[in-house]
Amino acid sequence: MTEHAKLIIDGKELTLPVIEGSQGEKAVDIRSLRQETGYITFDPGFGNTGTCRSSITYMDGEKGILRYRGIPIEQLAEHSTFAETAFLLITGQLPTQDELTRTSVYLNDFSPLHENMKAFYQNYPPQAHPMGILSAMINAMRSFYPELMDLEEEMNKTYLRLISKIRTMAAMAYKISTGQKVVYPRPDLCYCANFLNMMFDNVVVPYRIDDDLVKALNVFWILHADHEQNCSTTAVRVVGSGKVNIYSTISAGISALWGPLHGGANQAVINMLGKIHKEGLTVKECIAKAKDSNDPFRLMGFGHRVYKTYDPRAKIMKKMCDVVLSKMRINDPLLNIAQELEEAALSDSYFKEKNLYPNVDFYSGIVLRAMGIPTNMFTVMFAIGRLPGWISQWKEDVADPEMKISRPRQIYSGSTKKDYIPIEDRG
Ligand code: SDX
Repeated sequence: MTEHAKLIIDGKELTLPVIEGSQGEKAVDIRSLRQETGYITFDPGFGNTGTCRSSITYMDGEKGILRYRGIPIEQLAEHSTFAETAFLLITGQLPTQDELTRTSVYLNDFSPLHENMKAFYQNYPPQAHPMGILSAMINAMRSFYPELMDLEEEMNKTYLRLISKIRTMAAMAYKISTGQKVVYPRPDLCYCANFLNMMFDNVVVPYRIDDDLVKALNVFWILHADHEQNCSTTAVRVVGSGKVNIYSTISAGISALWGPLHGGANQAVINMLGKIHKEGLTVKECIAKAKDSNDPFRLMGFGHRVYKTYDPRAKIMKKMCDVVLSKMRINDPLLNIAQELEEAALSDSYFKEKNLYPNVDFYSGIVLRAMGIPTNMFTVMFAIGRLPGWISQWKEDVADPEMKISRPRQIYSGSTKKDYIPIEDRG
């Protein structure tokens, strides 16, 4: 293994240590660089910068590998549940039966919202985006449920309180936005079945729990549960590094996820496919627009900072399309457009040269649509899934002796020194 790297700057040779991870990833440790040379590194978007050591999620972007605590995503999607995967991410171990039972009991016990939190919904603008409501509600939890940072058992309850209530908040936001009566969580239902029931049960047509849809929702949230140092997780780590309470830290993660380049892409994909369908654009026209650097059109759901091959989650999500659509007896024209787009893009030199493949968002919107989830809630669904990942990353960050408050440097490119000009002399 290479033990160190040599850097020659201004005629001075600097030896920098090399760090190697458990899967052979290597990094040059530059923590002494500025002190030794006065230089900093420059890496907008952090494409070449490691911000931490982490034992939570491993990704290999070239081989399309994704593992949570060492377990391949394919095995978790097939055998696990979202509650069990959340336990795995946060604690580092798969739960025993007793631990899983206790987790499920807490998730149920914590599912109701504080009655006073409902005032948020009554006073929010009726057409507010659910991500804005969710970010505000999670931040407000700090005022309703002060966490006791120094008691591990209390913090474990805080994690489960967050995971439980985010689901109730999402379903309640949907019910109130549609003018329907709010459906409360049921103690006899598991996490995912409870969410579907809170979303779709109503006084006219009682909702019938469908095991295939419950399984599909478990898989959907397992696939979204963590993804190492993505944009929203980095936001959680940066905000958390200032010792902010966990509720406000998670609220920052929700806000970061909202953007169409990140978690908002699933909604953007469906909007794109819907536009193509409505305007009768051909696949050829779409591919040409996506390749045209003068055209703002992007093939949403394609490309990834890390994956330079097919996103392993997209493969599983694509299979889920067939399961959910056939279960719901839906023939979705947007799925056909998505499949034609994928086929055309994967055989086009532009996409091949730039290693642009479908990511998790390309097919996830089709699955959510088939489940009956409204489009403006797609990113909320992503947030519910990602919450255990944000919690596990925050927990690792605050416990890491190497971590300090995040405070990057910059290269200043503004005016050199100049004097103040009194307003009467400004012309
Ligand atoms: C998620 O980080 C994570 O792990 C995120 C995530 C998670 O689980 O947390 O996986 C979830 O956010 C998935 C990504 C969802 N976003 C989208 O699907 C939006 C569409 N994709 C692009 O905006 C883009 O691919 C990103 C944002 C995903 C990645 O952007 P990068 O790594 O900064 O790459 P880039 O924008 O510099 O693109 C490199 C080249 C550019 O062309 P050139 O300037 O070199 O000529 O590829 C082109 C881009 O124009 N390109 C695309 C494209 N994506 C990149 N061209 C057409 N369509 C696209 N979708």
